[in-house]
Formats: sequence, C-alpha cells, structure tokens
Amino acid sequence: MAFEQKIKELLDKRGEARMGGGQKGIDKQHEQGKLTARERIALLLDEGSFEEFDMFVTHRCTNFDMQKKSYLGDGVVTGYGTINGRQVYVFAQDFTVLGGSLSETMALKICKVMDQAMKVGAPVIGLNDSGGARIQEGINALAGYAEIFERNILASGVVPQISAIFGPCAGGSVYSPALTDFIFMSKENSYMFLTGPKVVKTVTGEDVTVDKLGGAMVHASKSGVAHFVGETEESTIQTIRELVGYIPNNNFEEAPMVATNDPIDRLEDHLNTIIPENPNEAYDVKDVIHAIVDDGQFLEVHENWAKNLVVGFAHMGGMSVGIVANQPKAMAGVLDCNSSRKGARFVRFCDAFNIPLVTLVDVPGFLPGTGQEYNGVINHGAKFLYAYGEATVPKVTVTLRKSYGGAHIVMSCKQLRSDINYAWPTAQIAVMGASGATEVLHGRALKEITDPEEKAKFIAEKEKEYNDLFANPYNAAKYGYIDDVIEPRNTRFRVIRALQALQTKKDTLPMKKHCNLPL
Ligand code: HXC
Repeated sequence: MAFEQKIKELLDKRGEARMGGGQKGIDKQHEQGKLTARERIALLLDEGSFEEFDMFVTHRCTNFDMQKKSYLGDGVVTGYGTINGRQVYVFAQDFTVLGGSLSETMALKICKVMDQAMKVGAPVIGLNDSGGARIQEGINALAGYAEIFERNILASGVVPQISAIFGPCAGGSVYSPALTDFIFMSKENSYMFLTGPKVVKTVTGEDVTVDKLGGAMVHASKSGVAHFVGETEESTIQTIRELVGYIPNNNFEEAPMVATNDPIDRLEDHLNTIIPENPNEAYDVKDVIHAIVDDGQFLEVHENWAKNLVVGFAHMGGMSVGIVANQPKAMAGVLDCNSSRKGARFVRFCDAFNIPLVTLVDVPGFLPGTGQEYNGVINHGAKFLYAYGEATVPKVTVTLRKSYGGAHIVMSCKQLRSDINYAWPTAQIAVMGASGATEVLHGRALKEITDPEEKAKFIAEKEKEYNDLFANPYNAAKYGYIDDVIEPRNTRFRVIRALQALQTKKDTLPMKKHCNLPL
C-alpha cells in the first residue's frame, strides 16, 4: 500500500471511530438533549489538550451474532488532557454504541487510563452514560466491571476520582461512580439506578419512570448519592472543572495555591452583629462563609441534601480549604444521620488529599427521637466523630454560637486534635442548653412547685444561673479548650493566619493495616 494510502486508511479509521455508533445514534443523542462522549470531553478539557488512547479497539464477543455489531473504540472514549493546565485522565462512555454498555474490551480501555493515572498521580474523571454490563457478554462484562471497581478501590485516597452521570446509568455504571469521591448529575438527563425500569418491571412488576427511580434531584436531595447537580450538561461539566481547581492531583501533593487580590486582613463589620439576640433565631451560616473566604467564592458540596450541615471548598489567602459549618437556618443546625454521613465523607476526602479543614460551629446537639435512633444515628454520628478525630490535616475551628454536648465534641473540638480553636464572644459551650439543663438538674424541685408563676420564676432564675456560667466562651477558654476569643469581623484574618501557621503541620496515626471506622 502506498504511503498516502496508509495515511488515508489511518484517517478513515479515525473518522470512523469518531462516529461512535453512527450518525443515527448521534442524532438520537442530540434529539434527547444529550451531548456525545466526545463533545463532553471537549467541554471538560482545555482546548486541544486531549490525547486519545485505543480508538481502534473492538469487542471480541460473538454471542448473539455480536460480531455484526462492532464499532471502532467500542463504546468508550479514553485518554488524558488538561484542565486549566493540570493533567487529568478521562473516560467517557458512548451511549450510541450499544447503549454505552460495558464490554470486556471497554473495561480494558478504562482500566488502562486508571492504571496510568495512578502511576502518574493524576485525577481520573469518568463521564458515564451506560446501561451497565453488556448483557451479551455475560461473565466477561461482569469481570470487566470488577476490574474497574478494584481499581476504584485501590485509587481511593491516592488520586481524586470524579464521576459524572449523563443519561440513564445502571448497574456497574453506578457502582463504579459510587466508589469514587464525587458524583455529578445534570437535571436534564441524568439517571442512576441499580437496575433500569425495564428490569424493575420484569422482576417486581412495578411501573416506574427513570425520573422517579433515579433522577438527578432524587439523588441530590433524597439519597445523597449525588454531590453536585447542574442545570445542564454544560454547566455540570463546568463545575467539574471548578472542583479540580480546589484539589491536588494526588495524595502526596498540596492543593494548588490560587493567587487572589482579596486582602487577608479584610474586616467584615457585619459579622459583629450577625448572631441574633434571640438564641433560637436563625441566620444563614453561608453569609459567614462568603464573608470570610477569598472573593466570596464557595463551591458547595451536597447543596441539596442534609442542609443542616454546609460543606464545600473555598480558598483562603490563596490556600484551598474544606469548610464544614452547621446551618442554623435548617433544623436549627442540629446533627442527624444524614448530616453526619455528609460531614464524615467530606472531612475524610479533605484529609486524604491534604486540604485543611475550617469548621464553623453553631450546633444545638444531635436530633433526638425514634426516627433518628432507628436509622442508626449512633453509628452515623460516630462516623463524623471518627473522621474528625482521624484527620491529620490542619484543623481550625471557630465556634460562632451554640456548641452543645456530643455535637460539640464532633465538630472538631480541641481534644479531637483540632489545632487552633477560636470562639466568637457569642459562643455558648456546654453539655446542653439552659432549659434542658434546668429540667434535669432541678426536676425534683420543679415537681414540688405548684404555683405556675413561682415555677416560671424559679426556672428563669436557674436558667440565668446556668447561662451566666456557660452561655459564653470564657469558661472553655479558661481551660485552654478555646485558644482565643476573637471579634467576629476579624475572622477571615485570624483563620488565614492560623492556616498559614499550620502549613507545615505534621501529625500521624498509629501504624495499622487500615482503620475500622463505623460504616
Ligand atoms: C446490552 C444494552 C444494555 C446492556 C442498553 N443496551 N443497556 N445492551 N447490555 N446492559 C442497548 C439496548 O439494547 C439498545 O440497543 C441501546 O442500548 C439503547 O437502549 P434503550 O433501552 O433503547 O434505551 P433507553 O430506552 O434510553 O433505556 C436505557 C436503559 C435501558 C434504561 C439503560 O436500556 C435499560 O434498562 N438497560 C438495562 C439496564 C440494567 O438493568 N443494567 C444492569 C446491568 S447489570 P439497540 O440496538 O436497540 O439500540 C450490571 C452489573 C454490574 O451492570 C455489577 C454491579 C455491581
């Protein structure tokens, strides 16, 4: 074959591979408002940075005449590229090829990029759009998924793993994302379920739509499976790029510094009066977060789930930080099963990837009651406690208002190896609030008072006595549990200075095979 012909053959093959399952499939994808795998990669990576692997791979299955349904690239586009100049590895499943279903060879392609990402120390981003294991391949498809899962597990805590769900994803294409650090969904067309509606109908007879079974808002607000939900595929992909800006490429790196013109000593006078006079009145802790971080930029994780705890990423003085804050605006900021799971997962991610933790505390305690107990609040709360106590990254805590009981301990108290703990003058650090404490301490005396007026007077007196002792930060500061009581308007400056001081912090855990946190 002449040289030109060889080049033409190469270009033709490339052209064929770029068409995936063919024009009809691409048109169908577009009609459904979906992008193709290649269009998604183009949006995700810096222009012109994508280097593709394995365009010429085809599946090897002959069951059910599958040799007649063979496509170059076989249902997944893989390779590496950059996001704002930082190297990442990607794979994007191609729904136009047999519904993006995973074959043995597709698994090999995905494993190849995962293996290289681990050696190089770069994040892996998977864009999933797949009906799960390719049914025609049977055990080979299952084995393929198992290979991917094992790599997800080995890569966990070594390189960040980010998954996006576009289209109806089932089986392995949701289990693999579930093993990764963050799951993104798009409101327009993302669905996650173990088995799709057709299988559900066959097995249980239940008629259910993809939306109801596993739409983006189901997982963003009910199950907590999705960490981020975007309006469109484009905006979802944009948020993935944003997230990468807060995290390091691997567990041996620091997160990149991001230059800012926002002065570290910027005072925020309004913080001095943000805490309402009435201790039962709410305020929005996100106002505090936006006021203290660089340029007011905060990337919230799990925005729609367990809203009583706010977690997310920001920069402070150019440094990446993970922020964890009780939200008085939602259920008075109480800790419960879901917020504990949310907090624990976030703290562990930050700790695994060297991102310092800034904790803002205003917590009245754990939510009591059968609803919580039956759902294992003891276990879930213990996860959060464990995560903070285990974390060796720099930990800076600011108590804004309430910090009661077990929740006080969980929220990065000094004894859980928090490094620098500040409190606002409005802080109240105690075993419980005044009314509960009075009820317990003076229950017998209260029973003996029959006159309601006298009873109210007695309660008010005892509550005052309690509040005088505990409704302030100085009792904790007296013992050194609080390092300083700070003016709220100085919070940005004081926290950044603390983070700067802690930049070279080294702390360790005892040697062990792995921990056994309460799952
Ligand atoms: C082979 C598949 C497939 C699969 C879809 N297709 N899923 N082919 N194996 N798993 C094919 C269809 O046959 C069809 O081919 C094309 O992809 C598009 O699928 P449609 O059904 O026409 O599309 P849609 O109506 O949008 O429905 C998408 C879907 C549905 C919801 C994903 O296809 C579905 O329910 N698939 C099965 C999902 C599932 O239960 N998977 C679990 C696999 S088990 P043609 O040729 O007609 O275009 C698994 C185990 C892993 O993954 C381990 C877990 C721990």
